[in-house]
Formats: sequence, C-alpha cells, structure tokens
Amino acid sequence: MPGASCTAPALWPRRSCRTSSAGTTGKGFQGSASKTSGRRNPTLSTTGIVVDRGLEGVVVGSTLLSNVEGKEGRLTYRGYDIHDLAPNACFEEVVHLLLYGSLPTAPQLAALKKEIGAHRMIPEPLINAMERAPKNAWPMDVLRTIVSGLALFVEVDPKGAHVSDVHTAIELIAKIPTAVAMWDRIRRGLEPIEPRTDLSQAANFLYMCRGQVPTDVAEDAMDTYLVLLSDHSYNASTFSARVTASTKADLYAAVTAAIATLQGEAHGGAASAVGRVLLEIGKPERAENYVREVLARGERIMGMGHREYKVRDPRAQHLETVAKKLSEITDPKWYQIARSLEDASNKVLQETKPDKRIYANVDFYSAPLFYSLGFPGDEFTPIFACGRIAGWTAHILEQLADNRLIRPQATYSGPPVHPFEPIERRSGNGKAHN
Ligand code: COA
Repeated sequence: MPGASCTAPALWPRRSCRTSSAGTTGKGFQGSASKTSGRRNPTLSTTGIVVDRGLEGVVVGSTLLSNVEGKEGRLTYRGYDIHDLAPNACFEEVVHLLLYGSLPTAPQLAALKKEIGAHRMIPEPLINAMERAPKNAWPMDVLRTIVSGLALFVEVDPKGAHVSDVHTAIELIAKIPTAVAMWDRIRRGLEPIEPRTDLSQAANFLYMCRGQVPTDVAEDAMDTYLVLLSDHSYNASTFSARVTASTKADLYAAVTAAIATLQGEAHGGAASAVGRVLLEIGKPERAENYVREVLARGERIMGMGHREYKVRDPRAQHLETVAKKLSEITDPKWYQIARSLEDASNKVLQETKPDKRIYANVDFYSAPLFYSLGFPGDEFTPIFACGRIAGWTAHILEQLADNRLIRPQATYSGPPVHPFEPIERRSGNGKAHN
C-alpha cells in the first residue's frame, strides 16, 4: 500500500529518517561541516564528512548566475543588484542576462522577445488533458504534469533524451506561464485563451488569465515579480534541478523535478500558504491575535523567515511597493492585512524569539500582490514557477556544461548485518501494516 511504511513508527523512527547525511569531498564539491552544536549536531560517520542534515552552511557547488548575501540582505544576478534590476529591467532582459551572460542590447532583446512569443503555445493534447482533468485538481499538480507532458511532443535521441540547449530553455520559459494561465481559466469553466506574440511575458500572462490586456500598473507589478523571482542561487528547487541534470537527465526532467520541489511550504508553497493566512485573518486588526495564536500552537508564520537571509529579504521591499501601488487601484484590504501581519509578526517574534532573526521573505508580499491581481491563493506557487523557470533552466545548462554526478552518502543507522530468514521462519514484528 503506498505510503504504508511511512506510518509505521517501528520501521521509520523519526530521528533515523532525518539523520545527518555523510557528505563527500569528491571533485566538484567543496564540502565543509558548519554547525556542530544543538539539534543540528552532525552524526559521526566512518565514511566521510558529515554535514548538517539540511546542508545548512554547506557549499556544494559554484555558480556564475546569482549570489545571495544573507547577512547583508543582498541578491545579485551575475553581479547586478536586484535593487537595480527590479525597477529598471524587464523579465526578458533578466532571462537574457541569466541564459547568455549579459544584459541584452535592443536588437538582442527584440530577438529574445520574438523567440519567447513564438514558443508560448503548448500542444493541443495537453490543453485537452487539462480540459478533462478534475476542476478541483491542485494547480501545482497540473503544472508539474503538463511540464512533464511537454517532453512527449519533442523528439528524443537514441538514448531517450531531449536536446537541452538554450533554445529548449527559452521554450520552457515561454510555455510555463501558458500552462498556468490556461488552467486558471479551465478550472473556472472558461475557454483557455491563446497566447499573443506581441505582448511582454508579464502582460501576456495576465492577458491569458483575464482576457484583456492589463493596465500598465498591473503589467509592471507582474513584471517586477518575475524579475525578482528569476533566480536565487542553490535554493531547494534549483538544487533539485541540478541534481536531476547531474545524472544527464534533460531539461524537461530537471524542470519537472524543480517544480515538484517548489511545492512544499518551506519553499514556494509558502506563497499559497500566506494567501490562506490573509484570508483567515480577514482584517488588519486581527493580525496580532492571529500571530500570538499561531506561535502559541508552536506553528510558524508563513512568509516569515529564511534559511539564508538574516535580515528582511531584499525582494520583499520591491514586492511591497508594487503590491501597495496595485492595492490603491484595486482593493486596499490585502495589502493592509499583509502590512499589519508583518508588523505584528516582527513585534511578537521579537518578544517570543528574541535571539532569532525572522523577517518577511519573498513570499510574504506575493500574496497581497496576487490577490490584488485577482488570483486565487492556490495559484501563487505555480506563478512563482513562471519566474523561477529562468533560473532553473540557466542552472541546468550551467550544470550540464561542467557536469559531475551529484551523489552524496548517508550514515547508515539501521540494524547490523544479520542472517536472512526464510519466509516460513519469519515471525514479523507483531503489527499489521496500515
Ligand atoms: N515563524 C515562526 N518561527 C520561525 C519561523 C516562522 N516563519 N521561521 C523560523 N522560525 C523559528 C523556528 O521555529 C526555529 O525556532 P526554534 O529554534 O526555537 O525551534 C528557528 O526559527 C529556526 O528555524 P529553522 O527551521 O531551523 O530555520 P530554517 O532555516 O530551516 O527555516 C524556513 C527556514 C523558510 C523553512 C522557515 O523560516 C519557515 O518555515 N518559514 C515559514 C515558511 C516560509 O515562509 N517559507 C518560504 C521561504 S522563502
């Protein structure tokens, strides 16, 4: 029965499932044990260096693409500060920067926009598949399935792999928003809208969801979001993409793995989770009570905290700006609730966890932004993928260009070697599987 073994505590004691893994110092990795105290204490190993089980503070590779400086609160893409990129560059310029290594000239940008526009449509059978899917299917499940399905319509080489080059990357960047937008309409019982070739990535996405070309404010908000979400060094989904690519799997496989990894609440799933929180709070005055109740239950405030940033996430300020601007011409409620939730979280966390540095992360203001744009909460994480696809594909190509299989070790914590028991002599552990 799927999942049965996970619920059998005798077989899978919680600690041994999450025991520290043994790292390797093999070529391509610069492993270094970091935390050595507290609950992250590494387990001793006879085979290699044992690092934090969340790989916290461990350097597992290098990249030219982006740099996260957590203490300073700085994020750069190929040396450009996102504080310069967010207000001044469009998403397509950032795609060029990540994929080709430089900001584009005007003709280069026009050529890239043309190529993206030309590849937005997804194969008809995949649209039919979405139309036949249950309307209550989870948008991340739909996106992951459709992206995996894209590979079915692309030629394979004799080993079963697809070409993984910059043009495949651009196709994926072009098609992912189409899948998200089409599902947004299909699930509401509306006809999907064909993509346009003359609109920017941000404007086309909103057009495909709403059926009308967005206002400049809405397009700018969406575009700023895409720029800010484009890349973030070795975050979990990008690392997952690189691990998959390191086996010489192709771009479609690696991007599918990345989307699967983005789903969880500790990563991109937090965007949707913040959306649920804003709904639950309902009005700004309720924020502080909500925070106190959540922390009293030992739970976390979604959209707060970050593994790398020890200050407010630098992307949050730009998202807050565009969310506020949008809220002024739509409904101020979502921005106001988010603002008072951040204030309340900062206040209460300061009281309850004074030694921890927990501030708003990128997902926090994504939620009021997307509510103001009219999206339901469960679509926030798929929209995250529309931006991050730029970084995922660039990282996959970077991995493939200088590849080394990513294959760490684990400290074995099961029983010692013992004799095999023929089935008629097995007594079992006295418990039925559930
Ligand atoms: N709310 C309340 N407490 C939080 C918190 C949050 N959002 N994030 C971290 N903490 C606390 C933890 O409870 C823990 O406290 P403790 O040591 O007293 O138990 C401490 O801060 C460290 O947490 P830890 O889980 O070790 O940090 P991490 O680096 O693994 O966590 C996140 C990073 C992002 C997983 C975590 O901050 C989180 O769960 N945030 C909410 C989900 C979210 O917004 N995810 C999107 C990230 S971009």
